[in-house]
Amino acid sequence: MLQVARQLGTPCYVYNEAVIMRQSRIVLDTFENQPVKWLYAIKANDNPHILSLIQKSGIGFDTVSFEEVLLCRHFTDNPRQIFYTENSMSDAEMDAAIQMGVILNIGSLKRLERFCRHPEATECCVRINPAIGDGHHARVNTGDSESKFGIRIGQIEEAVALAKKYGKRIIGLHAHIGSGIKEPENLIAAMKVLIELSKEFSDLTFINFGGGMPTPYRSSEKPFDMAHFGRLASALFEADLKGRPEGFHYLFEPGRWFVAEAGFLLTKVQTIKDQLETRYLGTDTGMHHLMRPIIYDAWHDVVNLTKIEHTPDQLYTISGNICESGDILAFDRLLPEAEMDDVLAFCDAGAYGMTMASQYNRRALPAEALLKTDGTFQIIRPAQTAEETVAEFLDKCRFTTTINS
Ligand SMILES: Cc1ncc(COP(=O)(O)O)c(C=O)c1O
Repeated sequence: MLQVARQLGTPCYVYNEAVIMRQSRIVLDTFENQPVKWLYAIKANDNPHILSLIQKSGIGFDTVSFEEVLLCRHFTDNPRQIFYTENSMSDAEMDAAIQMGVILNIGSLKRLERFCRHPEATECCVRINPAIGDGHHARVNTGDSESKFGIRIGQIEEAVALAKKYGKRIIGLHAHIGSGIKEPENLIAAMKVLIELSKEFSDLTFINFGGGMPTPYRSSEKPFDMAHFGRLASALFEADLKGRPEGFHYLFEPGRWFVAEAGFLLTKVQTIKDQLETRYLGTDTGMHHLMRPIIYDAWHDVVNLTKIEHTPDQLYTISGNICESGDILAFDRLLPEAEMDDVLAFCDAGAYGMTMASQYNRRALPAEALLKTDGTFQIIRPAQTAEETVAEFLDKCRFTTTINS
């Protein structure tokens, strides 16, 4: 890893191919002999090389924006491999999705009505709010009855009536209760709700239970027991499959599961200073490259790769290089005594790291590299230089248009 930092420079994201392949294999082995398909929620990490790697293992794409749909179209000729969960979508996006033939998952009655009125629309999935939520933080709990997502259970009759009125078919039911689910029982409970509700739909060909399988970010956290979850879910499927039509199947769409543990954000120490009680290590990255600590109070283990053999006996707060006092990536971490230019690794940073990165403070975006199973590494996105970043920005803003009112 230090060698990657030396050759690529910092900051950079590095992903371990073997871990991504391991995670893919685990899910594919979970439901033997049952009609279960897996999708990858690309919002977690949409680097094209990672998409291609996961897709080659036999996993489809789960998308949440029209831009993500367009990206996935580069990886498959079959639009039915792309599941598109809309969220306050525009008419133009809906029209394009219908023309493309992707599976559209609709989360409100108003949007469902627009879909039903569309002359070329034929069939869709609907996202249900199961009134069961979970997640590693309140901001990623999507299944609560107050959350903005999904059609409430009490509105299902209306959804069915709408489809009937316009002669459209609701072929799928979907719920995603949250990200980083703490209690697998909540997912099982939501699955039971969906299975029960599915009886109100006559044209169903699938049920999609969403993603949310958690990552153990702290050593005290237990890994998600996929095998145990598989056994609980299998029992539900076995009972439910009786009487279902030929080809009926179930789906899951995790994102974090595939990539979180595979990723590291490498950064260099550029400042060491004591501010009264707090000893800061300033880095060459920050909240613009790794937002999770700031928006979710998220924890990422930090390792000083340069001092890997040294005893951790110093307490450091690790700060970023963004001009915000809140730009702190980790508080009070016990690490070996650090020196300028030491390389630190933020662990488990493969999901919702680079996809959330921005150019705030007009900062350049970092490189991404893939550590291959043969021990080599491949640059899968070069770093932007400061000069490129500014030149691209100026170029984009070159045109000014005056709109007459
Ligand atoms: C609709 C939908 N599906 C799937 C996911 C993937 O979640 P996770 O990465 O926690 O598995 C998300 C993420 O929040 C989502 O919004």
